[in-house]
Amino acid sequence: MIINKVVIPVAGWGTRSLPATKNIPKEMLPVYKKPTVQYVVEEAMTSGLNNVVFINNQNKKIIEDHFDYNLTLERVLERGGKEKLLAEVRQVAEMVNIISVRQKVQLGLGHAVLCAREAVKNDNFAVMVGDDLLFGAEPGIKQLIDVARSENMAVVGVMEVPQSKVSNYGIIAGEEINPGKYKVRNLVEKPPVSEAPSRLAVIGRYVLTPEIFEHLEKVEPGVGGEIQLTDALQGLAKANRLLAVKIHGQRFDAGDWVDYLTANIYFALHDEDLRDDLVQRLRELLSCS
Ligand code: UTP
Repeated sequence: MIINKVVIPVAGWGTRSLPATKNIPKEMLPVYKKPTVQYVVEEAMTSGLNNVVFINNQNKKIIEDHFDYNLTLERVLERGGKEKLLAEVRQVAEMVNIISVRQKVQLGLGHAVLCAREAVKNDNFAVMVGDDLLFGAEPGIKQLIDVARSENMAVVGVMEVPQSKVSNYGIIAGEEINPGKYKVRNLVEKPPVSEAPSRLAVIGRYVLTPEIFEHLEKVEPGVGGEIQLTDALQGLAKANRLLAVKIHGQRFDAGDWVDYLTANIYFALHDEDLRDDLVQRLRELLSCS
């Protein structure tokens, strides 16, 4: 199974992150020193996904620009002898090939993926949600690609969430066929706690086969009036064509303020130049709160 394309939907309105996102895309809010979406693209690149399809909207062109050259800035850095910074900003433009597709109306994640149909053609592809951050020994999407290749099947990434959080996610029901690997029988989008079939939540990483587009075509608006990707995945599950893999790593939903702020601290704590001062300031803050 060849998988070198990834669809990264970034066209949503980011209402949970307002007012910060009134004019700045949620995916461009910085986590530590980089915009959120750069971490997602880096994860794609290190997993061999060199062809990125952004699903974008007309107000978020800045996302594509971030992955392009900024020749004026480069000249300034060059003149100032700032070689390290110059290499860093150039490298962002050279990471991946980018195609951008407009989602003209924000009808949900499923609809965003359907917008990629012409760009993806008849290939297998990954989907990485543009505000979902994963860090660990092995890139999150690579963990799914390995299983999709060996099983020749679509795979969704899942993580165990507390019972109280199941209503925020798509939840799977399935049989564990190997440790951390499940045959998916059913998926429910944002179930009430009492109706959740498990605590295994679908997170923003998928490897899909092109047959998903036929299912997406048929999906009617579901939870929240949106075309849900979960509902199309149901079609694959019913045909016994869907696996789930428990992803290992730290996950942050950049659209959630607690996760967003924690992600900033997580990275800063990994920077030796900042760590001690930051810990000191956090201690001071905690002692006066
Ligand atoms: P979210 O579920 O976080 O939705 O989307 P959102 O609309 O951006 O944010 P809130 O809930 O209003 O705060 C997950 C990812 O899917 C993209 C978003 O840009 C985000 O990266 N998305 C969502 C689309 O591309 N199109 C859509 O119609 C919806």
